[in-house]
Amino acid sequence: MASALDQVPFRVTDPELIPAERYYDEAFFRLEQEKLWPHVWQMACRLEEIPNVGDYVEYTILDKSVIVVNTKNGVKAFHNACRHRGVRLATGPGNCAKTGFICPFHGWRWNAEGQNTFVFGKQIFSDALLDHAEIDLPPVRVEFWAGCAFINFDDDAPALLDSLGPVVETLNARNVDKLRMDWWYGTILPTNWKLAMEAFMEGYHVMKTHPQLHYIMPGNSYGRDVDEALPAGHLDGRQMVGRMVDFYARLSSGMAGMVHETEVAVLEKLRDMDVPEDPMAALGAFMARAQEEVTRDGFARGAPMFDIPSVNQEKPFHDVEFMFPHFFLLPSFAAMSSYRIRPLTAETCLFEIWSLVLRPEDQPYDTPKGPTMLPYDSPEFPEIPMQDYSNLPLQQLGLHAGNFKFMRLSKEQEGMISNYQRLIDGYLAGLDAEVLRKGQTVVNSGYNAPILDIGF
Ligand code: FES
Ligand SMILES: [Fe+2]
Repeated sequence: MASALDQVPFRVTDPELIPAERYYDEAFFRLEQEKLWPHVWQMACRLEEIPNVGDYVEYTILDKSVIVVNTKNGVKAFHNACRHRGVRLATGPGNCAKTGFICPFHGWRWNAEGQNTFVFGKQIFSDALLDHAEIDLPPVRVEFWAGCAFINFDDDAPALLDSLGPVVETLNARNVDKLRMDWWYGTILPTNWKLAMEAFMEGYHVMKTHPQLHYIMPGNSYGRDVDEALPAGHLDGRQMVGRMVDFYARLSSGMAGMVHETEVAVLEKLRDMDVPEDPMAALGAFMARAQEEVTRDGFARGAPMFDIPSVNQEKPFHDVEFMFPHFFLLPSFAAMSSYRIRPLTAETCLFEIWSLVLRPEDQPYDTPKGPTMLPYDSPEFPEIPMQDYSNLPLQQLGLHAGNFKFMRLSKEQEGMISNYQRLIDGYLAGLDAEVLRKGQTVVNSGYNAPILDIGF
C-alpha cells in the first residue's frame, strides 16, 4: 500500500503541508480525471429538477456526460452518447416523454428507459451490430439521498450510503430529503476545483473575509484583537439578543438560504423577549427559544418540519457538512445552503450554490430549471459567497507567484483540507475500495475538523 501511495506525484506526505502543484499541475489534474472521478459518487442532480416522467437533465464531469431521467420505473442514468457514431444525445434539461431521445445525426431513437426504439434503414447494417445489448444506452449506476440523484461510473464501488458515513444520519434527522430549491446560482471561478472547495472548509477565515459576521458573532475564540470586534462581555442580555438577531439577519441576506427569510421573520419577533442580564445566559435562552419558535412556525405553515431543539441535541451538526468529493450542505435552523464544485480545467471550476428550504409539499413553486450563471465578481451574488470568491483568483495567482511550495494548515481548524486531500491520494494510488470507503466516512466529518487519521 505504501509503495502505491509513494508513486503519487505531489502527494501529501506531511498532513499539515499541501503541495502547491496539486492545484495547477496538468499531469496531476489528468490523474484525478483518470483515477478519482470515475470511482466516486457524484451529486448529479436534485430530484426536483426532474419531477415528471420523461424529465431529464445532463450531468457533465470533465469529458463525461450522463443523462439522468425520470421514468415510469424510477430515475435512471445513461451514458450520453449515440450508439451509432457517438453524438451526444441530450444537452441541458428537457422532457423526453413524447419523443424519447433522438440523435440529431441519423435519427436513431431511444425511449426514457434507454431502449433503442428506431434505427433508420436497419437493412443496411449487419444484424450483429444492431443487437439490443449493443445499441441500448449503457446504464450508469444511480443511487439517491438528500433529495438528489448521485451517479458513479464504477460498478464495483461501495454503495452510496456506505460511502457517505455518519453524516447521512445527521442530515436525515433534519429532513434533508424534504428540502426544496429556493434558488440556484452558478459561476465559473478561475481556480482549481479543490481550492474553491477549501474556502468553505474552515472558519478561520471569517474574521478577515467576513468581518460583518465576526463582528456580530459572539464567542469567537480567536481574532478578538480585530479592531471592530466588540467583545460579547461588554453587552447586557438584551443587547446580546439584538446582536444575535442581527447576526442571523446578516447571515440570511448574505448567504440567503442558510438561514431562510421565513426563519429571520420568526427571530425578529424575539428581539424583545425577556432574558437574563448575563449575556451568555441570554444567548442560551435566545437560542433555545429561537429553535422552538422556528419549529412551531414551520409546522404551522404545513412544512415538513422536524423538532429542531431535540434534533440538535441528539444529532449535533457542523455548520458545513462535506460529502466527498464535491458536495456540501450547510445547515442552520431548518433551511440549508448547498454547494457543488466541478473541475473544468486544471485552473478553472464550476461552482454552484443552492438555497434549500422546507416548504409545504403542496405549495406551488417555480423551481429553477438550471443555475442562474453570474460572473464570480457579480454584485448579484449574496454577500458571503461574493467575499469568498474575491480571494480565490488571487490565491490561484499566488500559487504561481514564486517560491510558494506548500499550503501550511492549522492542524486544529484546517484539518478537513488535509483529510480530503489525503483521501484523493488514496484514489490516485488505486487503494482498495474498502480502504477508501472507510477513509471517506472519516473525511465527511464537517467544518473545522482537526487533522484526522483516515486509515492509511
Ligand atoms: S450518430 Fe447518432 S444516429 Fe448516427
Ligand atoms: Fe467564507
